[in-house]
Amino acid sequence: MKCFLLLVLVIGLDLSSANSIPSYNHYRLPTALRPQKYYLRILTLLESPDDLRFVGNVQIVIEALKNTRNITLHSKNLTIDESRITLRQISGASNKDNCVSSTSVNPTHDYYIMHTCEELLAGNVYKLGLPFSADLTRQLFGYYLSSYKNPVTNKTRWLSATQFEPSFARKAFPCFDEPGFKASFVVTLGYHKQFKAISNMPVREIRKHESLQNYIWCEFQESVPMSTYLVAYSVNDFTFKPSTLPNGALFRTWARPNAIDQCNYAAEFGPKVLQYYEEFFGIRYPLPKIDQMAVPDFSAGAMENWGLVKYRESTLLYSPNHSSLADKQDLANVIAHELAHQWFGNLVTMKWWTDLWLNEGFATYVAGLGVQKIHPEWDSRDKSSLVALMASFRLDSLVSSHPISRPIRMVAEIEESFDAISYQKGSAVLRMMHLFMGEESFRTGLKEYLKLYAYKNAEQNNLWESLTTAAHQNGALAGHYDINTIMDSWTLQTGYPVLNITRDYSAGTAEITQERYLRNSQIPQADRVGCWWVPLSYTSREENDFNTTAPKAWMECSSTDEGVPTIIDHQAGPDEWLILNIQLSTPYKANYDARNWKLLIDALNSKEFESIHVINRAQLLDDVLYFAWTGEQDYETALQVTNYLRRERDLIPWKSALDNLKLLNRILRQTPNFGSFKRYMKRLLTPIYEHLHGMNDTFSSMPQQDEVLLKTTVVNVACQYDVSDCVTQAQAYFRRWRAEANPDENNPVPLNLRSTVYCTAIGQGTEEDWNFLWTRYRKSNVGSERQTILSTLGCSKEVWILQRYMEKSFDPKSAIRKQDSSLCFQAVASGQVGFLLAKQYFIENVELIHKYYYPQTRTMSRLLTPLSEQVSTLSDLKKFRSFANDSRQLLKGIRQAMQQSLETMLTNVQWMDWNYHQFSRTIRRHL
Ligand SMILES: *[C@@H]1O[C@H](CO)[C@@H](O)[C@H](O)[C@H]1NC(C)=O
Ligand SMILES: *[C@@H]1O[C@H](CO)[C@@H](O)[C@H](O)[C@H]1NC(C)=O
Ligand SMILES: *[C@@H]1O[C@H](CO)[C@@H](O)[C@H](O)[C@H]1NC(C)=O
Ligand SMILES: *[C@@H]1O[C@H](CO)[C@@H](O)[C@H](O)[C@H]1NC(C)=O
Ligand SMILES: *[C@@H]1O[C@H](CO)[C@@H](O)[C@H](O)[C@H]1NC(C)=O
Ligand SMILES: *[C@@H]1O[C@H](CO)[C@@H](O)[C@H](O)[C@H]1NC(C)=O
Ligand SMILES: [Zn+2]
Repeated sequence: MKCFLLLVLVIGLDLSSANSIPSYNHYRLPTALRPQKYYLRILTLLESPDDLRFVGNVQIVIEALKNTRNITLHSKNLTIDESRITLRQISGASNKDNCVSSTSVNPTHDYYIMHTCEELLAGNVYKLGLPFSADLTRQLFGYYLSSYKNPVTNKTRWLSATQFEPSFARKAFPCFDEPGFKASFVVTLGYHKQFKAISNMPVREIRKHESLQNYIWCEFQESVPMSTYLVAYSVNDFTFKPSTLPNGALFRTWARPNAIDQCNYAAEFGPKVLQYYEEFFGIRYPLPKIDQMAVPDFSAGAMENWGLVKYRESTLLYSPNHSSLADKQDLANVIAHELAHQWFGNLVTMKWWTDLWLNEGFATYVAGLGVQKIHPEWDSRDKSSLVALMASFRLDSLVSSHPISRPIRMVAEIEESFDAISYQKGSAVLRMMHLFMGEESFRTGLKEYLKLYAYKNAEQNNLWESLTTAAHQNGALAGHYDINTIMDSWTLQTGYPVLNITRDYSAGTAEITQERYLRNSQIPQADRVGCWWVPLSYTSREENDFNTTAPKAWMECSSTDEGVPTIIDHQAGPDEWLILNIQLSTPYKANYDARNWKLLIDALNSKEFESIHVINRAQLLDDVLYFAWTGEQDYETALQVTNYLRRERDLIPWKSALDNLKLLNRILRQTPNFGSFKRYMKRLLTPIYEHLHGMNDTFSSMPQQDEVLLKTTVVNVACQYDVSDCVTQAQAYFRRWRAEANPDENNPVPLNLRSTVYCTAIGQGTEEDWNFLWTRYRKSNVGSERQTILSTLGCSKEVWILQRYMEKSFDPKSAIRKQDSSLCFQAVASGQVGFLLAKQYFIENVELIHKYYYPQTRTMSRLLTPLSEQVSTLSDLKKFRSFANDSRQLLKGIRQAMQQSLETMLTNVQWMDWNYHQFSRTIRRHL
């Protein structure tokens, strides 16, 4: 082994300290060259803990489109053996050797530039060979190291994994690392024969290593043309569970051997949803096989690499004895998301990261359809739509939000795009389109688009063209409308509108105006500009049609992009309510005149409240609580709406309300008037808590699965507000668990109550309780259970325990994996005592935290959310502002997230200034 390494004559190349002035400084690669094919050989050394590294050689077949004297590609933290670079012309009249005369680097854009001896000529094809090597690090990006403990031998087992999206293939091998440079890949992996290897494609051939004893080379079949960020491989000692799909691709689910029994659900669900997409998109899954793999250390939730999808353990592995229904639904959603990418993203890829939302919005939206199809009994589609809408409403009401389609000039900016705007708002605007165009046009347009751009790259305009054609053909859109104009107003502009609806009660009409909705009420009217093309769907009490989501009218924008006030003729009688936005099909907020709100409030607070569609009940709650926050409505009106929740028995409105009320809780629990709020919440929650039999284990008799989730959701808040017997029951369950002789085998706490029980017991509990749960974490073999425990360990109210827990979270030597550290911090920071500590800890230890995540400091943004929701005093806001300023350098990677957090904090301070007293007076009237 050593001897092999000695053969390599290494010329160290320190990219970071290169001080040559870059001659090419554009953020995109030159377009003179196009890679056609990569032959990638990588030898991975995993046997000795002191020598974990890889040694590789890549041969790239490159077509010259223009004459050029240099080859510029990406390479980051790779040691390239410059003495052995080869370059040869392999086409044209005379195949002849060329060479590299000198090299330079541009560390800003990770460029590695080779100046060629002879000019490369347009039309010719060349083969470039680059030998390289690097250490396998524990960074979770590029080609990296993961590990797990074999429970029998108690030995650490090493494995390697890749994570290349968006721009880390360049850390694994030199390449043209932009999504537009699609090429085919022939991957060959070398490794000790005790391991196995998997990659995008099936194995073609295995042969002995030419010199290293006990080493083999495993060559995989040539891939279809694809982007570098989708390349994947892994060397490991995992086992797999096969699935069989009639006439389908070979489908396998991989995990470490002692977790293989948790693969059954994924192995069953994956192929079903894959088959659904084949029908939905009208295109067969193009590869001969697909593997899904649970990686013990994984930063994202999952990654859609073509033919080799990688997951966290908690998003792929399911244990009937340890995972809750919510866990199961989450993992179904993640699998459905990644498999949707096999078409949207892998087959047709965005030209540039500006259109990342096309990938992510689609996968998010279509996953909801896939899960609904395979598990109709969960009835989860409306819930996932609502979750997407609520997340985008929240972030997108900030001035510091950004458009869905976002110019990208730096790698760091690409990473910032993986947020709620790309995923959830992207999904919401696609759903809007689906609902206003109708099933037929939407599907036809999509299929056409996928067919046109298969194995190529596309931009959003390409999609709009296909959809416009389909919609016109189907008559789903008037001839003078095009999808382009409509959708540009949603994807190129930041934010979303609020519609003011003013009824004329005698004429049966209403006037509608629009402006941008902002949570920061200090922003003057003049800055709330913008115009959105809004499909107007509506119904009244009499008509009661909540099925038709096709618009009855459109709100248009003038040629100067100003909103044109629109009159609709709705024909609702003067005593009937009117509701806009059927099933919340378009992401906007609707504010009515006082009389219509009164009619709606009366309907909600009557036996007929269910005559309003369940999603629209969620909409009314969400809208009115936003409006009360920003002053368009008062809290009297808002509380008259929320009062009806005493009748509500459906999950979706509860989710909407609780999400909003949680924000009030986070601020109010730090004030002397929290008592009234708590009494109000108890009053709202008691009827449903009793209705669901509280903490009693009634799950086996529940006919509806969504009732399980409702119960999980309700008991969780009920215990926080000390409703009924919630806390005492939770403590009793926990005591029974602690009394078990073998608590790792026997857990008497009902699966779907565990999170609530642990959190409540730890919150009220002793050091022994905490240590008991920590030991269960250490012994658990199930990813979702480990996550549940980590997030409930933060529920303690003991300062020293929380302090110790936070320190563990950022200690590389502790039992907490780097992938989970943000979860632990969030858990602490979400608690009322924990918040005070976490705030302090973050400010005082930002250097340590930065170092812990470096170079992936972007992960730090996950720590900000719970802090920003709770900072509500001017002095804290000032502290954070000056902290953000003083630590600019360390916070560089999370600039956007920091701005958004500061703005959220500001809106909290505004709430205290303007609403606190009004709210406190009002809520007392409702007790
Ligand atoms: C490499 O060649 C391209 C295309 O000919 C050119 O745009 C670029 O400036 C060159 N880069 C360097 C570092 O000379
Ligand atoms: C990249 O390599 C250089 C030199 O080998 C090293 O100093 C630097 O820390 C590395 N950066 C990362 C992010 O690993
Ligand atoms: C496994 O190793 C750890 C630490 O080295 C030790 O504390 C533990 O007792 C060992 N367990 C078994 C089952 O050998
Ligand atoms: C909408 O109504 C709000 C509150 O009544 C008002 O402040 C705003 O100016 C109105 N906007 C438009 C565009 O009419
Ligand atoms: C709306 O759709 C549901 C389910 O598809 C159906 O049961 C109901 O009858 C429809 N209502 C109207 C008014 O069309
Ligand atoms: C739970 O069950 C116990 C015993 O049957 C009963 O006394 C209690 O009222 C139940 N709690 C709720 C909230 O239904
Ligand atoms: Zn995705």
